[in-house]
Amino acid sequence: MSGAPRGRVPVLLLLLLLPIAAFLASSSDASASPKRARKKTAKRAAPVDFDTHLPVLGTKLAEFPAGPGKSLADQGCVFCHSADMATQQHLTEKQWTAEVTKMTSWGADVPADKRDELIAYLVKNFGPESPRYVPVVTRPVGR
Ligand code: HEC
Repeated sequence: MSGAPRGRVPVLLLLLLLPIAAFLASSSDASASPKRARKKTAKRAAPVDFDTHLPVLGTKLAEFPAGPGKSLADQGCVFCHSADMATQQHLTEKQWTAEVTKMTSWGADVPADKRDELIAYLVKNFGPESPRYVPVVTRPVGR
């Protein structure tokens, strides 16, 4: 009779196999981790197909032109959006009146006694006969 006693062989075998089993389990866990899965399916960045010197959307593009009423427009009309929202219009006096009423009802800070002055300014600069508005080209959103 030589070697390990019979009863010990399965125990030794188990001790040997346990670390291997643990290793296999952990490595298969890792390959199934969401991190790796995401890495595999992550999209490649789209190729740049625009002029990267273009300003980003939201850049302040236009100033209100000088003249009586500019300070009113600066005070009341660039709180929520840029001046471009107004400078690209070609509205009649009736339309500007309605527009200012709409914006004031939304919270534009226009003193009641300055309202007519602001409307006159808007009609003068952005009326039906005003020069054609040329929009500034911006980069695609988020790029
Ligand atoms: C409280 C925020 C706010 C203020 C202040 C504001 N606006 Fe606006 N304006 C908006 C929003 C929001 C829009 C776009 C949504 C829409 O048109 O329904 C808009 C749109 C516009 C438009 C495009 C046409 C339209 O009605 O959509 C014009 C022109 C305009 N604003 C002019 C002005 C002028 C002139 C002033 C100053 C008297 C002004 N805004 C102040 C929120 C504001």
